[in-house]
Amino acid sequence: MSKSMNKIKPAVPTSTGNNNKIKLPPFLEAKKPKISPEKDFSTLSNYNSFKVNNTIFDWEIDFNKKLVKGYINLNLTRLIDNEKFIKLDTSFLKIDKVSINNHNIVNFEIKDRIEPLGSQLIIPLSNLSEKDNAFDLKIEYETTENCTALQWLHAKDGNPYVFSQLEAIHARSLFPCLDTPSIKSKYQVSIRSKLPVVFSGIEIENTDKSSDEDLKTYKFTQDVPIPSYLIGIASGNLLSAEIGPRSKVYAEPSRIKDCQWEFDDDVEKFIEVAEKLIFPYEWGRYDILINVDSYPYGGMESPNVTFATPTLIAYDKSNIDVIAHELAHSWSGNLVTNCSWNHFWLNEGWTVYLERRIMSLVHKNDSVRHFSALIGWNDLQDSINSMKNPNRFSTLVQDLSDGCDPDEAFSSVPYEKGFNLLFHLETKLGGIQEFDPFIKFYFRKFAYNSLDTYEFLDTLFNFYGGDEEKLNILNNIDWETWLFKPGMPPRPNFDTSMADSVYRLSNEWVEKSQQFKSLEQFKGYFCLDDIKDFNSNQIVLFLETLVQMGNVDNKEHKIIWFENKIALEALLDIYDDIKLVKSRNAEVIFKLFKLQIVGQLNEYYIKLADWLGTVGRMKFVRPGYRLLNSVDRPLALRTFDKYMDTYHPICKSLVKQDLEL
Ligand code: BES
Ligand code: ZN
Repeated sequence: MSKSMNKIKPAVPTSTGNNNKIKLPPFLEAKKPKISPEKDFSTLSNYNSFKVNNTIFDWEIDFNKKLVKGYINLNLTRLIDNEKFIKLDTSFLKIDKVSINNHNIVNFEIKDRIEPLGSQLIIPLSNLSEKDNAFDLKIEYETTENCTALQWLHAKDGNPYVFSQLEAIHARSLFPCLDTPSIKSKYQVSIRSKLPVVFSGIEIENTDKSSDEDLKTYKFTQDVPIPSYLIGIASGNLLSAEIGPRSKVYAEPSRIKDCQWEFDDDVEKFIEVAEKLIFPYEWGRYDILINVDSYPYGGMESPNVTFATPTLIAYDKSNIDVIAHELAHSWSGNLVTNCSWNHFWLNEGWTVYLERRIMSLVHKNDSVRHFSALIGWNDLQDSINSMKNPNRFSTLVQDLSDGCDPDEAFSSVPYEKGFNLLFHLETKLGGIQEFDPFIKFYFRKFAYNSLDTYEFLDTLFNFYGGDEEKLNILNNIDWETWLFKPGMPPRPNFDTSMADSVYRLSNEWVEKSQQFKSLEQFKGYFCLDDIKDFNSNQIVLFLETLVQMGNVDNKEHKIIWFENKIALEALLDIYDDIKLVKSRNAEVIFKLFKLQIVGQLNEYYIKLADWLGTVGRMKFVRPGYRLLNSVDRPLALRTFDKYMDTYHPICKSLVKQDLEL
């Protein structure tokens, strides 16, 4: 019998009397690391030997030289008496001076670079007496031009601009640190810049009146301990506007009014709903920074100030779910953190779960959640189908112990398989009224800490362990498939009410496209009213469904659009309205391009090329170039050549790979 065919034996209550009375099924007990949380393999630091009590940054932003210089002061406690060294992560940093308790250390060593983890900085602790376990480590340093954490650019108004993106392992390229999500610290920060600064903390009233030169000092504090990857900094010509009692949005002057309109009011509703679902928001303010066009992600959950892409501005508030997602990270990820990138689903799967709960609570309608889960399911399918190495990268729990780059393992899997596992648990355990107490318990238990999947499971089994029926349910879950097997998980029963009308209309278009031969025939059958009740997400699903029905790689494909151009032209004519053809929502714009390109309507090739010069979010840029490349490679290459230096370095290098350059 193969190992995977072994029947998983049930967990049984034990009588050890400690907090965790219930053992996991033997298969999981056997997989557990000896000590939890499991070791992080994406750091070169000896983080287990130290506790970080506090961190101070003193930085100057030099726009001319495109670098950040200054110092970091780590206040540390040595946890192991005979630890002779502290080993830190660095990546492309220039280290100028190291001191411990104000004593200069000259014999520090910077090891050769190991890709992708960087260069270990080894500092001897020989001047600490054996019992002297608390100490200050100060490092003076500069970033260099190879820094992978920052993008320097010029904003549309000509002003310089810089922003950071540190998740997963780029913090080490902005400051030397124990760069693991297992280690958390408080921060106090002082930053000199000639332009306004936004930072992942609470701004302290500026008492510095001495700023006679063109540099001003900005001070922030982060009093909740956070891991290094959550630090975020941006500086540029930024304005801010109120969007709620504890929230404002920062943006470039040309965008600030649009941003205020887009996010006004909703944020506070989301926070209040999330507080009821989990527990009160612990961070004080919740602000949003709408970054410049080249920002490569949809959003990043830097504490107190979410960094987001300008493609969220849709002029109809339809992309606000991204904000619900980043806000939800205030509990999942930022308070309760994955201990390493192997367990990234604990950050993102939980966040998608909470995001969807928040949206359905705000809309007072759970079919909103099911609809979004269904779209997520399709994303998961697409993502696994297009993986070069699905056996390795489509398991929920990852194995990065070979030093593999977490950026390489990144996909929809931790998001959507993670969501589906939690949704499956919710359903099996008896619905939200049975599951919600666990949500509160889990986030309270692990707040300010980092954990692995086994600690999550222990908590789950012990929470429900007193109830024999529920314990039985948990024992009967196919944990091996959910956690460790590649591929799609078991498909849940989604409520498809919001999708059914979309599928009906898509089917009609496919059917009629095979019969009708003229625009008039289409106009006699279809009209703008067909889509009047659709929200933007339904429009997105409509367009994607049409694309899929014409996708010849898909076994169930029903039509070849480029042989039915009249049908697509009719569709563009009939739905020539802000909901679809004239939409300003990037999600809709992109899906429409997809249909136009798949249908080989060549007047749209150049339009897509131009659009790729206006967005930097990888979600659109990468598939955008792949699409263009599939119909007109010379145009794709010319376009990339023209815009590549406007993209974020990570985005640029991934598009390069996608285009096989
Ligand atoms: N934390 C992620 C972004 C991230 C993950 C950056 C890993 C770098 C490495 C953020 O919360 C996120 O998931 N953003 C999504 C939006 C969301 C609605 C799924 C994105 O950027 O698309
Ligand atoms: Zn996220």
